[in-house]
This record gives sequence, structure tokens and C-alpha cells, in this order.
Amino acid sequence: MQQFIVREYQSEDLENVVSMDGRPSKRRKDQLKKVECLEAFYAFIAEQSRKIVGFIIMEDLGDNVSHYMLQINVAKKRSGIGKQLVGKVFTEIGGGGHVSLCVNTDNEEAIKFYESLGFKKSGFTDGYRKNQNKYWYQIDL
Ligand SMILES: CC(C)(COP(=O)(O)OP(=O)(O)OC[C@H]1O[C@@H](n2cnc3c(N)ncnc32)[C@H](O)[C@@H]1OP(=O)(O)O)[C@@H](O)C(=O)NCCC(=O)NCCS
Repeated sequence: MQQFIVREYQSEDLENVVSMDGRPSKRRKDQLKKVECLEAFYAFIAEQSRKIVGFIIMEDLGDNVSHYMLQINVAKKRSGIGKQLVGKVFTEIGGGGHVSLCVNTDNEEAIKFYESLGFKKSGFTDGYRKNQNKYWYQIDL
């Protein structure tokens, strides 16, 4: 498989990221628009042969140690893209940082993914949305 690169998201990437995996969603578009408009939101994309194959969106919660992971999606699973995107974020945040995220309790692949990266389960929210429970995970860098 040809290598992919990870780079900062730019506003021109919007439509390509939204339609990256053929499953465009309004939520994804809304989150990306926050990246364009709000300083606290930032994102990276993974690109392969000029095609976007993954993205990650983060929010800096503002106290210099807490970052919240809002969304990560890859178009080709189990190719190391997710790991590389999270690795890029960890590098950007640096030692002493802290990252939190929530994941649907039935999203087994994401749970395995986060646990493989060293995230530890820190909480549970019952009925986060209708018919949706969440686990919370966190990691200190
Ligand atoms: C979760 C997600 C981002 C993982 O990205 P990925 O690029 O497939 O993950 P990687 O290839 O970097 O995997 C890194 C490690 O995570 C673990 N892992 C990832 N997917 C796994 C799976 N389905 N089952 C078991 N372990 C898994 C493995 O340890 C893997 O290392 P290995 O392949 O060397 O064994 C991807 O599955 C995805 O986009 N899912 C849909 C969107 C989603 O659920 N996002 C998270 C919402 S909270």
C-alpha cells in the first residue's frame, strides 16, 4: 500500500473530507465549519495520492492541558491511518497534555482502537442521546 501523509486541515478540504468515505453527514460538515471559524477547533487529515483517507477533529478546551477529541474517521480501516492521525495530535499537544473523548458503548472497533493507543476508560453516560450510551476515555500524555 502506498504511504499516506498527515497534514493540517484547510478550508478548501471541506467538501472532500465531508464526502471522503461516501457517507457525508451534516454533523461532520458542522464540525468542520467550527474548525474554519473557531480558534479552539482544529483538525488534521490523512491523504494518499491526493485523496483524503482520514481526518481527526479536536477541541482545545482552553486550560492548556485538556483537549477533547470530537471525531475521527478513516476511509480505509486497519491501515494505520487512525493511529497516525492520533499520533499527530499527541505530538502537537505534547507532554503534559490530556485528551478526553466519548464513544458509543456498541462501537467495538473504536473502543479497541482507543484502548490499543493507551486510553483508559474513565466514565459512562447513560442515555447520552436517544438509544445511545457513551463510555468516556482519557489519556495523559
Ligand atoms: C476507529 C477508527 C478511526 C480506527 O482507525 P484505523 O485506521 O482503522 O485504526 P488503525 O489501523 O490505526 O489501528 C490501530 C490499532 O487499533 C486497534 N484496532 C483498530 N481497529 C480494530 C478493530 N476493528 N478490531 C480490533 N482492534 C482494532 C488495533 O490494535 C490496531 O493495530 P493493528 O492493526 O496493528 O492490530 C476506524 O475504525 C473508523 O474510522 N471507524 C468509524 C468511525 C468511528 O467509529 N470513529 C470513532 C468515533 S468515537
